[in-house]
Amino acid sequence: MKLSIGLFSLVGILVSSIMGQQRPGSADFIVSTCKRSLLQLDLPSEYVLNKNVTFTAIDQYGSSYAIGDQLAIQCGYRTSPDLWGNITFRASLLSCFAQILDDQSTITLRIDIFPTWDKSASVSYLKQVTCPYAWDAREILCEMNYMEVSVRRKIPMIAESALQDEPEDWVAAFPEAVAGLVSIWQVVFHLPSTRKAMLVRDAQKIGYGINITESRMLLRSPYKTAETQLLNIGGVNFSSVRSTILYKQRWLILMIDAAVACPVDDVKFTKQLITWSVPKVILPLLIGASRLKNSRIAFGVDLRTLNSAEIANRKYGLVDNYLDTTVTVPVGAQGGYYKSHVSNGNYGITYSINVFLEHEWDDSMWGVTKHTIIKEITTPFDAQPPLIINGTIPTTKTFNVTIGPFPPDVQLINVTVGTETLTIPQLAARNYNLTTITYPNGSVAYRITVPFSDKNVKIEYIGETTRAYVLIVTFGFKIIPNNENFTCTTTIVSLVQDAVLPEPSGYCDENALNVIVKRGNVDTNWVPFVKNTLLTPGTAQTSGLVFTANSTHYTITANRYSDSVMYEDTSNSGIDCDTPPYTWLIVPMGNPWSTFSVSCSLPYLKKLIDCFANGTIAVTVLKLSTVPDMELSQLVLRDKSCRPVFYTSSAAKFVFPVNACLTTRKFTQTMMIYENDVYYYRPGVTEAAFKLHVACNYTTNETLILQYGFETPPTPSAQSAFGTIELVLRLSKDSSYSTFYGDSEYPVVKYLMDPLYFEVGLLYSVDPQLELFLDNCWATASPDKPAFQSGMVVVNSCEFIETFQTIFHPVVADSRVKYPSHLKRFEVKMFTFMNAGRAYLGEIYFHCSVIICNAVQLYSDPLCTKSCIPARQRSGRSAELDTDRHQYVSSGALLLKSDVPSSFRKY
Ligand SMILES: *[C@@H]1O[C@H](CO)[C@@H](O)[C@H](O)[C@H]1NC(C)=O
Ligand SMILES: *[C@@H]1O[C@H](CO)[C@@H](O)[C@H](O)[C@H]1NC(C)=O
Ligand SMILES: *[C@@H]1O[C@H](CO)[C@@H](O)[C@H](O)[C@H]1NC(C)=O
Ligand SMILES: *[C@@H]1O[C@H](CO)[C@@H](O)[C@H](O)[C@H]1NC(C)=O
Ligand SMILES: *[C@@H]1O[C@H](CO)[C@@H](O)[C@H](O)[C@H]1NC(C)=O
Ligand SMILES: *[C@@H]1O[C@H](CO)[C@@H](O)[C@H](O)[C@H]1NC(C)=O
Ligand SMILES: *[C@@H]1O[C@H](CO)[C@@H](O)[C@H](O)[C@H]1NC(C)=O
Ligand SMILES: *[C@@H]1O[C@H](CO)[C@@H](O)[C@H](O)[C@H]1NC(C)=O
Repeated sequence: MKLSIGLFSLVGILVSSIMGQQRPGSADFIVSTCKRSLLQLDLPSEYVLNKNVTFTAIDQYGSSYAIGDQLAIQCGYRTSPDLWGNITFRASLLSCFAQILDDQSTITLRIDIFPTWDKSASVSYLKQVTCPYAWDAREILCEMNYMEVSVRRKIPMIAESALQDEPEDWVAAFPEAVAGLVSIWQVVFHLPSTRKAMLVRDAQKIGYGINITESRMLLRSPYKTAETQLLNIGGVNFSSVRSTILYKQRWLILMIDAAVACPVDDVKFTKQLITWSVPKVILPLLIGASRLKNSRIAFGVDLRTLNSAEIANRKYGLVDNYLDTTVTVPVGAQGGYYKSHVSNGNYGITYSINVFLEHEWDDSMWGVTKHTIIKEITTPFDAQPPLIINGTIPTTKTFNVTIGPFPPDVQLINVTVGTETLTIPQLAARNYNLTTITYPNGSVAYRITVPFSDKNVKIEYIGETTRAYVLIVTFGFKIIPNNENFTCTTTIVSLVQDAVLPEPSGYCDENALNVIVKRGNVDTNWVPFVKNTLLTPGTAQTSGLVFTANSTHYTITANRYSDSVMYEDTSNSGIDCDTPPYTWLIVPMGNPWSTFSVSCSLPYLKKLIDCFANGTIAVTVLKLSTVPDMELSQLVLRDKSCRPVFYTSSAAKFVFPVNACLTTRKFTQTMMIYENDVYYYRPGVTEAAFKLHVACNYTTNETLILQYGFETPPTPSAQSAFGTIELVLRLSKDSSYSTFYGDSEYPVVKYLMDPLYFEVGLLYSVDPQLELFLDNCWATASPDKPAFQSGMVVVNSCEFIETFQTIFHPVVADSRVKYPSHLKRFEVKMFTFMNAGRAYLGEIYFHCSVIICNAVQLYSDPLCTKSCIPARQRSGRSAELDTDRHQYVSSGALLLKSDVPSSFRKY
């Protein structure tokens, strides 16, 4: 052993003399195992996770050599952390600083563990392990980071001091050797078309490990050097080095052929299967060999050979034939492990397994060769969208979401429900129930339950009676130990038929339209609008609207002149008392499918037209939905100087006397009608955009019809109302007709044959064009008009001279009488009725039937001729005409003074 010392000059290898500041502790947790031609140390992740771990080799003299990547390749070390954080360290039994005997190696290592941020806090452990091993004649090891070949050497090594340089011998054997310094030891690399010789120490400088032990010669090579060749063997690429190592011993030049070849792209993946195929006949290793015999294959995981039962049990496949050996490992099979990763924000997994394949054979040239290939296999990233299971049962009113399973390296960090992010401890404090489900294989799934009533659950109204409960939940995960983060968001929607809609109702009162909305449970989806105005409490008063809201109801009140009230004409057939214009208050509730309106027919509201008995007409004109641009301030009557006395944006009011503003009067067979029109002219347009016909109708049966109608082309329509006209039959105290008996003076007592001065008049009217005519006047013994005993006083507008010596008196204007045509006067003599020869001493009443005529067009109306017409010439009058146009008036009671002589005229 000591013979090898000094053969090497370790150039480029850091010789470290630093010892850990802390005393080496118990290294029991570091598991060391002799595995084939390797020593393996296992450092569990719990001791080394997120720590800096360094390995240092210590030689037999106590010198330490820090193992970096470069030294590891050259000297036969491999540090391989798995994805969980466990660290596996392997050292070749032929590694540089091992103490090697023929059948055993002793390896001494120092392991320093320290936090990444503080090297001074390191803890050092010493591990010295001796591994026995029975070497084959040739052993080839394909480690992950180096290739190693060792060959048994039959001739024992001699001391360096005994060697002499005899260059001439070299020249004879290998011309290449001449170029180099005279050396006892050289290596010749066989390249495809040439050879390359160098001194062993030069080869070591460029990364080769070449050494000689008592019984073996070894060459260690990186996978890629200038001297390695990439060879395709049986469809698989191999990295290969062929070399001859020469050294001179006494008079002999010894040559040892060292060839090594290791596959580099021999593993193929599908999503389900790993296939590893290695050719058996690797020609660079068989140069000079005639045949291959006693071929034996061993396959295993983590350097432990598996028997065929174990292989079958784990569902691996091993197919060995003359040409190659093919191993298949299903992704996920026992022996390997899954690891989670995040790639571009996506979650995915890899599967890793450490396998080896060992091929042992005999050949005529080399004897027994053992070719061992170690493969740390990791499948490519396989994106695996997390599985989310919606276990929500709507009737439980609780969301139930399960995410997973995940490999155990995935940890739930936080959960965002709606907009609120909670850590795991915070979740428990809320009414979210997080359950961790652990499966036998170590996978975990997480289940969260969230009540529908939670504030982070959104409730959306879908329509009809359905509400959607929406849970948006984001799970935040961390992958250990690499601390990659990913999130997974899911939206769960559960439809439940539990919507209670707002329930509107409405009513009208004299001045306003009212909408009352009973709130449901979907209020947040409902916003009350009136037209385009969003209603919020207290903001809408200016437009004639009052909006209030309490916990149970909304109330919207619109006064009749509010902008929000629309008038609509529903009648189109002229005057029709039963189908008045309607007013509408439309309240769309914010969603297109829900518009609510209250409508009132106008009689519910104050009358729009008033025809006063004194001949004044008051008309309210409303803005109609059909003429939206109508400027109510610009409305006029027939006389364009007559304008509204006031207006708002939705209504205008005119007040005018019947004898003004070009008001006309006409008579039909049953009525006397004052008429005017309200017009709207758009600026600069001579044709009216709007015409409203206004009429006040007086009927002779004491009924005044107020007619209100408008014409908005093309459908004219009208509206009517009713009122009374006032007539009076009074008794004057004398022929001057200046003072009359008042109500309290009746019954008036008169002597027989006393003159009675009666006056019939139209009260209040200011229309000079009216003329009142007496048709018939008569006396009765009762206040009812057609009484049993009656005496005619005026017949067919003629004085009835025969019975009561009736005399008409002309009426002239004076301070009391403004319109003489409104009055008629006549005089009769006091009388009484005779009954069975006795004078009737009870109350007597006078009655007249009256016709009101147009004074300027009397002759167009057969009823209105000025003078009396004899009965036979008036036969053209029909009975119904007589009754229709007539209006009746009665006097108060008169009494005959009883001390009267009994000489009477008989009636
Ligand atoms: C790796 O570490 C994990 C966690 O510390 C442990 O459960 C597992 O058995 C280790 N695996 C190996 C191969 O050492
Ligand atoms: C170990 O620590 C050093 C600093 O002391 C740092 O530069 C290096 O990256 C660390 N190595 C690992 C593997 O964490
Ligand atoms: C060669 O092997 C000897 C004996 O094992 C050892 O002491 C020496 O360090 C090795 N040199 C190299 C360069 O590997
Ligand atoms: C949640 O759903 C799963 C099925 O996905 C069910 O097994 C579990 O009992 C449910 N949990 C609750 C609390 O409803
Ligand atoms: C959480 O879930 C468990 C099991 O499903 C149940 O026993 C427990 O009552 C639940 N807790 C709450 C607050 O819902
Ligand atoms: C929640 O967890 C995710 C993933 O780990 C992380 O990216 C995110 O920052 C966390 N959110 C909060 C508020 O902590
Ligand atoms: C994961 O999130 C944590 C905080 O939540 C952050 O400190 C860390 O850097 C993140 N890691 C990655 C890989 O994004
Ligand atoms: C979740 O499950 C509930 C109950 O079965 C169902 O109503 C809902 O539609 C589901 N949601 C999704 C997004 O699958």
